[in-house]
Amino acid sequence: MEANTVKKTMLSGIQPSGDLHLGNYLGAIKNWVGRTEAFDCFYFMADLHAITVRQNPADLRRRTLTQLAQYVACGLDPEKNTLFIQSHVRQHAELGWVLNCYTMFGELSRMTQFKDKSAKHADNINGGLFTYPSLMAADILLYQPDFVPVGADQKQHVELTRNIVQRFNGVYGEVFKMPEFYSTKEGARVMCLTTPENKMSKSAPEGCVFLMEKPEDIARKFKRAVTDSDTERCVRYDPENKPGVSNLMNIYAAVTGMSLDEIERAFEGQGYGRFKPAVGEAVIELLRPIREETERILKDKAYLESVYKNGAERAAYVAEKTLRKVYKKIGFVPRG
Ligand code: TYM
Repeated sequence: MEANTVKKTMLSGIQPSGDLHLGNYLGAIKNWVGRTEAFDCFYFMADLHAITVRQNPADLRRRTLTQLAQYVACGLDPEKNTLFIQSHVRQHAELGWVLNCYTMFGELSRMTQFKDKSAKHADNINGGLFTYPSLMAADILLYQPDFVPVGADQKQHVELTRNIVQRFNGVYGEVFKMPEFYSTKEGARVMCLTTPENKMSKSAPEGCVFLMEKPEDIARKFKRAVTDSDTERCVRYDPENKPGVSNLMNIYAAVTGMSLDEIERAFEGQGYGRFKPAVGEAVIELLRPIREETERILKDKAYLESVYKNGAERAAYVAEKTLRKVYKKIGFVPRG
């Protein structure tokens, strides 16, 4: 991803359906921070997406605001990044509807996240869960971004968005810019600490490290992290045969900036006993300032409100321009 003199655009979002965890941070947020020199940046709380699964209203509200405070605490300056709540910008729902009509049933049926979630919530396989990817395409395309920094699990949705762009532009001309998926190798797929075959997720809390978690709990989770039953017990990168240790190495690499080779050399001959607490320590030190800053920001409700109000205003301005263009192209009569 090169940054040149003309500012490009970057956009991403996270559902406030659970507390943010290390997977969200390393897979997504870490790649959002420090980009404002080269990019116009839009980051949002995807609350419209969150209700595809039943949410407790008070929890949803609390988590949405906490997530906003965490974005800021992670280093996203609201003066330089447009931070907003998805439901405040009605153009998302409007373009989402339009794009539903340009997304095929077969495409939506193939989405892994839909299959996973409908298996997990068999009593609530609603229309929104199924058409979720066309709303995500709308989130993206309203802002005409060059890059969408997300974890590997979202790549399929970005690919679908690209198909929609091709289909739509094929009929109406160059309306949407083609967005690209962006991720980093170490952070793209953070795995569960207890079952390293699965991705880290809030649904397995013992294998998941939350951004607001206390240092002693983080230390315990890393000490108990499942490593591998091989006899050599050495710190060596081999995702196929040593998924547990390889996951810890990826986490350590993403947090410290060391390469996998450097990590192997640094822990040569020391076994897992030294390595696991070292990863825990590095994560604790990464998260400590984020947690403290989030707690501080959350006390200032007026500040948070000003951030999301300004963000929604800036986002809506850009989103409306795209939506108008789309409505015109498809033949809707302008209201004047
Ligand atoms: P969501 O809310 O499930 O996850 C938010 C971000 O965190 C990343 N992520 C991970 N990365 C690495 N390892 C993990 N274990 C891990 N778990 C989660 C996700 O890849 C994602 O980047 N549909 C999206 C939200 C969304 C969106 C958008 C994203 C809605 N509209 C438009 C980008 C652009 C989702 O469910 O992510």
